[in-house]
Amino acid sequence: MVIIVVEITKIKALEILDSRGNPTLMTRVTLSDNTVGIAKVPSGASTGLNEAVELRDGGKRYLGKGVAQAVSNVNTAIAEKMRGANPLSQSNVDKMLLELDPSTGKGKLGANAILSVSMATAVAASNHLKLELFEYLRTKVMSKDAKYLQPVPMCNVINGGAHAGNALAIQEFMILPIGSKNVVEAIQCAAEVYHNLGKGMISKYGRMAKHVGDEGGFCGFGLKTSYDAFNEIVRAIEAAGYAPGKEVVLGIDAAASGFYKDGQYTVDEKAMTPGELIDYYIDIEKTFPLKSVEDPFDENEFGEFAEYLTKTKTQVVTDDLTVSNPEIVKKAIELKSGNSLLLKVNQIGSVSEAIEAAQIAYAANWSVVVSHRSGETGDTFISDLSVALASGQIKTGGLARSERVEKYNRLLEIHSILDGDCGYPGSGFRTAWRNY
Ligand code: PGA
Ligand code: ZN
Repeated sequence: MVIIVVEITKIKALEILDSRGNPTLMTRVTLSDNTVGIAKVPSGASTGLNEAVELRDGGKRYLGKGVAQAVSNVNTAIAEKMRGANPLSQSNVDKMLLELDPSTGKGKLGANAILSVSMATAVAASNHLKLELFEYLRTKVMSKDAKYLQPVPMCNVINGGAHAGNALAIQEFMILPIGSKNVVEAIQCAAEVYHNLGKGMISKYGRMAKHVGDEGGFCGFGLKTSYDAFNEIVRAIEAAGYAPGKEVVLGIDAAASGFYKDGQYTVDEKAMTPGELIDYYIDIEKTFPLKSVEDPFDENEFGEFAEYLTKTKTQVVTDDLTVSNPEIVKKAIELKSGNSLLLKVNQIGSVSEAIEAAQIAYAANWSVVVSHRSGETGDTFISDLSVALASGQIKTGGLARSERVEKYNRLLEIHSILDGDCGYPGSGFRTAWRNY
C-alpha cells in the first residue's frame, strides 16, 4: 500500500499583470503541511503558431486579454481534481492535469492555467522537502545526481522586431560572456558591456537610443541596420575592456517569422530570398564573432533551417519552429533543422513535457537554451530550471527591468548557495551539458 504523507489541499489562482501590463495568472498551491508554492506565468509576443494556447477572455476587459476564465478553471475544475494528489510526483501531477484537458494545445482549460499549477506544485514540493528548486528538479524530478552547471547568460542588449519600435528586423541582439570564470563574473561583464553600449549609443545617436525595449535591451533608436547594431556592440565590448570573440561572443534571435511574407524576408529594408538571407547571415558570421543564431527563417520552413545548418558554424537554435513540443522537436531533429533547442515552459504548458523536450534534444546531441518570454513576471523558475537541466545556456533578457534582472539575481543566489561549487561552461557553452 502506498502511503501518501503529503497532499495538495488547496489551489488558488488570481489574475495579475505581466511586464507589459497584460493579465496573467499567479497560482498558489498549498499542501497538507501548509507548505505553499507560488508560480506566475509568462507570455510571448512573437509567439509560434503551434504553441500551447493561452486562454484569454476576449471582450472589452483588458482589451480582450483578461485571464478570468483561466483563473476560474484553476479554481474550480483543476483545484477539484488535484485536491488530495501527491505533489512529490511531478510526472503524475502533470499527467492528471493533461487528463483534464487532452485537447491539442490545452485550449480547453488554457495552457496558462495548467502551467501555473504544474510549476506551483513543483515549487511547493521543493519547499516541503526543504530543497532548493534547482536541487528538487534535478534530483527528484529528473533523478540525476546533484552535479550542477550554471548557464552562460545570453544577455539581450539591443531589442528589435516585435520587441521595440525601431528599424531593426532582427528581434534580439545578445552577448555571451564566455571568457568569464563563473556566472558572477559573467553577469558583471555583461552589465559593464551593457552600460558602455548605452553610453556609446547616446553619444552617437542621442538620448532616445538608450530607451529599453520589452526585454530590457536598448531600443537602439537611430540604428538603421543589423550591422549598425553589431558595430555598436563590438565597440561596447572593447570599451568595457573585454576581447570580442574571445571573452564575449554574439548571438541573435532573428525571430524571422516577423519579417517573412510571401516567400521573402525583409531585413535592413531589402527583400531577400531564403538563399540571400543565408548569405546575409554568413556574412555577419564572417564579419563579427556571431556564435548563436535563433529562428533564422520562418517557423514553417524546416528545410530552410536545414539548408542553413549545412553552411554555418554557429549554433542554430529553434524556437518558433519547435515550440518546446516533444513531437515537433523530434521532427526538427529528424530533418536536421538545427542543433539547439530554445526551451520555454509556457510554449508546451507543463514542467514534465518541457523536461521531456530537453531530454529529447540532449539525446540527439542538441544543446538547450532555457528561455524567458518577452512578457514576464518576477518568477525565477527558469533560473533554477537551467541549473537543474545543466543546459549551460539561459536567455533572460537585458541587464535592466526587474522581471529580467530577478532571473540573473537568482543565478547569483544559486551560485552563493552552492558556494561557487558549480561549473561554468565558458566557450564550451554548446556542449557543456554532455559532461553533466
Ligand atoms: P517572445 O520572444 O516571448 O515574444 O515569443 C522571445 C523569443 O522569441 O525568444
Ligand atoms: Zn525566439
